[in-house]
Amino acid sequence: MKLLQYPLQFLIISSIVILSGCSDRDSRSKNRDQFVRSLLGQMTLEEKIGQMTLYTSGWDVTGPVLNENYREDILAGRCGNLFNAQTVAYNRELQKMAVGQTRLKIPLLFGYDVIHGYKTIFPIPLAEACSWDLNMIRRSAQLAAREAASAGLNWAYAPMVDICRDPRWGRIAEGAGEDTYLGALIAAARTKGFQGDSLSDPLTLAACVKHFAAYGAPEAGRDYGTVDLSERTLREVYLPPYRAALEAGAASVMTSFNEIAGIPSTANRFLLKDLLRNEWKSDALVVTDYTSINEMVNHGYAADEKQAGELALSAGVDMDMQGGVYQNNLKKSVEEGVVAEKLIDEAVMRILRFKYDLGLFDDPYRYLDEEREKVNTFSNEMMEHSLSMARESIVLLKNTPVNGKRLLPLTMETGIIGLIGPLGDNPVDMLGTWHASGDPSRVTTVLKGLEKALPDCDIRSVKGCGTTGTDRSSLEEAVRIAQQSDIVILAVGESYDQSGEAASRSYLGLPGIQQEMVERVAATGTPVIVLLMAGRPLTIGWIADNVPAIVNAWHLGTRAGDAIADVLTGRYNPSGKLVVSFPRNVGQIPVYYSMKSTGRPMDPANQYTSKYLDTPNKPLYPFGYGLSYTTFKYSGITLNNSRIGMADTLKASVVVTNTGYRPGEETVQMYIRDLVGSVTRPVKELKGFEKILLKPGEEKEVVFTLTSDDLRFYTAEMKYAAEPGKFRILIGTSSEDCREAEFELTL
Ligand code: NOJ
Repeated sequence: MKLLQYPLQFLIISSIVILSGCSDRDSRSKNRDQFVRSLLGQMTLEEKIGQMTLYTSGWDVTGPVLNENYREDILAGRCGNLFNAQTVAYNRELQKMAVGQTRLKIPLLFGYDVIHGYKTIFPIPLAEACSWDLNMIRRSAQLAAREAASAGLNWAYAPMVDICRDPRWGRIAEGAGEDTYLGALIAAARTKGFQGDSLSDPLTLAACVKHFAAYGAPEAGRDYGTVDLSERTLREVYLPPYRAALEAGAASVMTSFNEIAGIPSTANRFLLKDLLRNEWKSDALVVTDYTSINEMVNHGYAADEKQAGELALSAGVDMDMQGGVYQNNLKKSVEEGVVAEKLIDEAVMRILRFKYDLGLFDDPYRYLDEEREKVNTFSNEMMEHSLSMARESIVLLKNTPVNGKRLLPLTMETGIIGLIGPLGDNPVDMLGTWHASGDPSRVTTVLKGLEKALPDCDIRSVKGCGTTGTDRSSLEEAVRIAQQSDIVILAVGESYDQSGEAASRSYLGLPGIQQEMVERVAATGTPVIVLLMAGRPLTIGWIADNVPAIVNAWHLGTRAGDAIADVLTGRYNPSGKLVVSFPRNVGQIPVYYSMKSTGRPMDPANQYTSKYLDTPNKPLYPFGYGLSYTTFKYSGITLNNSRIGMADTLKASVVVTNTGYRPGEETVQMYIRDLVGSVTRPVKELKGFEKILLKPGEEKEVVFTLTSDDLRFYTAEMKYAAEPGKFRILIGTSSEDCREAEFELTL
C-alpha cells in the first residue's frame, strides 16, 4: 500500500487494515468505513462539496485540455471528480494535482461514456443484444473496461438499461431493446463484465447503471421528454433491468433527465429513497445526468438552482454532474439551515467509499500505467472480439429466392458487385453513436471487408447519395454501376449521429434521398441485397415488398466490414434475432410483442375491434425474429405435467432439428401468457431462451423449466405474486412463430 502521502491518521487506520489481514468482507468494509469517516472528519464543508462535484474536462483537436477554472477548482479541493479526461499521461498530470497539491490529497475519479467500447469499438448495445449471447455481451463489457481502465479511467457511464418501445427515440441504440426479461439479463451481464471480480482491479471499471428511471419512455419518442407511467408498468416493465444491474453489483446509478408523473428523477424520493435505498437495499453512489439538477428549474419543479440543489440532495443525489449547482449553492443552503450537513456527510461518505473500493486511496496511480495502456489498446484480443461480436449481432431479415435461387449467401467468386450507398465505404458511421475514443482509421468498411473476402470479384463502389441531404451528383453513376453489375449491395441507413442522444426522429424511413436511390437502383433489374445499417429499426416497407434480400447490420463497430463480408459470403451463418419490433410505419408506434389483448382483440372480419383502417396491427418484423442460411423444424411442446403447484417445477421441452444444409445457431424462445389475472396480463412474455448450434440433420431437445416465481406480477393489490389459474406456454423461433401448450398453476 502506498499510503505515505496521506495524513498520519489515515496511515494508522490503513495499517490496522493490513495487520488485521482484512480477511472477510465485513471487516474490510468496517475498515473502509473507519478510514472514510476519519477522512470526512478532516474535511471542511467546501471540501465535502468539492467531492460531490463532477466536471467534464474540455477537449482540443489533439486531446483533452482542462479548462483553467477546473484546474483551480481541483487545486482548491472544489472539484473531486472528472469525466472525459483520458489517456494515462493526461490523467496522471491531473491526479498529481489532486494528490500532490491539495490539502487532503484525495484522488480524483475519472469517468467516461464507455458504452460499447473505448478505442476498439464493438457493435452498438442494441445490436449486441440481438446476439442473445450473454457471455459474449459480458465479454464486450469486460474488454471495453480493460482497454478504458488501461487508459487511466475508472468509471464507466454504462450499462444503459432503459427499456424502449419507441424507435423514434434515438437512444434506443444504447439499450437492449423492448423486452424486460432479456433487458434485465443483459443489464446484469454488462455490469459483471465492467466490474469483474474486484472494483480495485486496474483492468476493470466501476459500472453506472442509467438512466434511472424510465428514460426510454418519453412521450412521442422525443429525447428528454415527459414520462408518465402507472406504478405497475414502471415496476413490471421499466425497473427490473436497473435492479438487475444493482443486484449484479453496479457501484453507481445515474439519474435520468425526465420527470415521472410530475417529479423529475433527479429529485425523486420514491426512486432514490423508497426504491433504491429502502426496498432494494442498495448503497450505490447516485450521480446526476449532465446538468439535470439545473434543469429542474426548466421543469418548473424548482424556483432557482439553489432550490434545485436542495431538492436533489434531500432526495438522495450524491454527485452533481457538470451543473455546478452543489458547488455554487450548497454551502449557503447549509448555513441557512435549509439542508442538514448530515445529508452532505452521507453523500461524501458514499463517494469516498467508492474511491476506496476502486483502490484509489491505496494507490491513486493504480490505473495509470503507460505500458499497460500500450499493450491493451487495440490488442488482438480486442479486435478479434469486435469481429465475433459483430457477426453475432447481424440479423438476416429476408432472403427469398429469385428464379428459384436465394441471393444470400453470395456464391460468386468472380464477376461484378456494385456496392452502392453512403455506408459502403464509410468508416465513421460504422462506429455508431457514443463511440467514445473510437478511431475511424482502424475501421474495416464494407468495401474493405468485401475486397478482402472476394479478391477475384470486381467491386465497384459509389455513394449514390449521402445519409442526409439531397445531393444527387453521384446518383446517375450509382444507376450506371447497378446496370453493369451482376449483383448490387445497397449499403443504406443512418449516420452515427442520427441515433443516440438528442437524435429523435419523427420519420423513420431511410433519411435523405436514399429511398429514391434504392428505387432507382432496384429498377435496373439487377438483383439487389439491402444492407441496412442504423441505430434503430427503420420503416422499410417498400424494401421489404420489393427487394429479395435484407440484412440488418445496425452499426457494428471497428470490424464492421469484416463481419458483414463473413455473413454475406456465408463464412458465418447469421444467427441474430431482433430485440425490438420493426414497425411498418410511425403511426403504429408503440408496437411491441408483449401488448395487452384489449376487450376487442383484433379480428379482420369485425370492424369494431382494436385495429387500424390502413395498416395491420403486427409489426413488419417481430421481436425475436431473424433468419439463418439453414432452416429449423420445431416439434410440438412436451410438458412433464399439465398442472403444477406453487412449489413445483414445470418442464417444457421441444425438439429442434436443423433441416437445412449448413450448421447454424438458433435461439429457441419460451413465452408465457397468464390467461386470467386480477389485472390483465400481456398476450406474451418472454421467460426463457437458449441458443443452440446444430449441424445439418442434427436434432436437439431443449428443456425449459418454470416455477411459480417466473409467473409473478404485480397483482391488483400490488403484491408481487403468482396467481393460480391457466397459462399458455409458447415456444418457438420468434415471438410470432411458436408452438403452444397449456398448463395450470394450482394453490
Ligand atoms: C448525458 C447522457 O444522457 C449520459 O448518458 C451521459 O453519461 C452523460 N451525458 C455524460 O456524458
